[in-house]
Amino acid sequence: MKICCIGAGYVGGPTMAMIAKQCPEIAVHVVDLNPQRIAAWNSDTLPIYEPGLDEVVREARGRNLTFSTNVDEAIAEADIIFIAVNTPTKHFGIGAGRAANLEFIEKCARQIAKVSEGHKIVVEKSTLPVRTAEAIKRILSSADNGATFDVLSNPEFLAEGTAIDDLLDPDRVLIGGESPKAVQTLAEVYAQWVPREKILSTNLWSSELSKLTANAFLAQRVSSINAISALCEATEADVDEVSKAIGTDSRIGPKFLKASVGFGGSCFQKDILNLVYLCEHFGLREVADYWEQVVIMNDYQKRRFAERICRTMFNTVSDKKIAILGFAFKKDTNDTRESAAIYVCRDLLRERARLVIYDPKVEKETIVSELLSALSDLSGTISDLDRELVESNVTVVDNAYDAAIHSHAIALLTEWDEFRTLDFERIYQTMQKPAFIYDGRNILDRQALRKIGFEIFAIGKSN
Ligand code: UDX
Ligand code: UDX
Ligand code: ADP
Repeated sequence: MKICCIGAGYVGGPTMAMIAKQCPEIAVHVVDLNPQRIAAWNSDTLPIYEPGLDEVVREARGRNLTFSTNVDEAIAEADIIFIAVNTPTKHFGIGAGRAANLEFIEKCARQIAKVSEGHKIVVEKSTLPVRTAEAIKRILSSADNGATFDVLSNPEFLAEGTAIDDLLDPDRVLIGGESPKAVQTLAEVYAQWVPREKILSTNLWSSELSKLTANAFLAQRVSSINAISALCEATEADVDEVSKAIGTDSRIGPKFLKASVGFGGSCFQKDILNLVYLCEHFGLREVADYWEQVVIMNDYQKRRFAERICRTMFNTVSDKKIAILGFAFKKDTNDTRESAAIYVCRDLLRERARLVIYDPKVEKETIVSELLSALSDLSGTISDLDRELVESNVTVVDNAYDAAIHSHAIALLTEWDEFRTLDFERIYQTMQKPAFIYDGRNILDRQALRKIGFEIFAIGKSN
């Protein structure tokens, strides 16, 4: 059997590497339009940082895992074609800011229709609005060289930073489709390492909707606890104590209740906005409003964090040096998409703070380009003033100690493990006084830091 995957990103790359590792008899060919990305997959420096991924790729690459830009050839040869291209939120035209941009998916479907012969199973891996399979089916049915297709929905539930563990031991594999035979063929692939009872099959639309719903529920939990964190700061409740207390109720459960500076990542916001757009499309105004509130709360949480920094630093951060620890949207990834750090930094820059940023895995170019696009307007235009602001007020360094030297404050925005064990005595000596710490992830020992002399502010804790 031959598998092809279109899209060598955070989803396509690790997922196909795992299939290749676990199924040595299947040839897995991952293709992408971006030659730099493919070159990186073929090198010793993979384009994405993910614990354990190097080993998996090393084991399978050259054996039954290949990466190339030969999209047509890979499609023509494959029995199963996964579509794992990006589906960003549209930033133009109808549905701008909410609907998913399906341009890349549609282009893939047209390409598949053009070069396929015989029978193929086409699998939607990217997160998509409900009923996208309908459009894919229609495009595929226009193929004029006699090819036939089954379309399946097989959403990926891996979380970045733990992708390899999630792929090795998933809570479930979900396959939606109309043809039992096609569903069975794909199920056989996963059954090489996933227990049968964890492979669920549903109709196409339930599968598509389950992916959006799972992400909406997860994001909702974070927004719910973050909403309570604001109330905790106003009262004398402690949000970590509240999380623990409610999480012991088996109906609520302990996971995903960590208050933070706000959720980020490529999925949560995009999928909720997508859900909101769908509900509006079907005339379900109340349902749309209900889910939109999860994103509104998240924006509030990010804004509130930057405002708290300004307020507690005597209402001005202008020309003050603030060390930013962490820029990725969570630990153990180099992904910065929708990271809360982007928006906190943007707000601080608008207050004319000087930022010295350190993240263990994110490249300087990525940080600068994220900040520039956060400062740009809807059409993507960056003013000369904002460009100058980033050039003059943002420095990226390669360790936390250098970031903190002479700073007025530290804002911890990503929960990287190395930040827990920093020598804060040493850091304190090098900072301006009073020395402030804003812990956006509640990972630092507040009592110990206070003893050193820091003024510390954390999420959901009154001071
Ligand atoms: C609730 C809390 O569960 C309990 O911990 C607290 O002490 C008091 O409030 P109660 O109101 O007795 O208990 O019943 P509960 O089982 O929580 O159900 C509340 C309502 O939600 C009922 O109308 C029930 O039918 C409804 N419900 C519950 C659903 O519609 N769907 C569900 O999945 C669960
Ligand atoms: C998510 C889903 O978990 C995954 O199933 C889906 O396939 C893709 O989207 P991911 O975005 O990689 O995965 O990371 P996740 O661990 O879900 O975290 C998302 C964001 O929520 C991060 O910014 C994280 O810091 C934040 N978060 C998560 C919290 O602030 N508190 C929590 O308790 C959990
Ligand atoms: P995700 O997090 O969903 O994996 P990424 O943006 O990391 O998203 O990856 C998607 C990849 O899909 C990108 O590398 C992009 O170049 C690739 N891609 C988009 N459209 C096409 C296409 N028509 N053919 C091949 N690759 C594509």
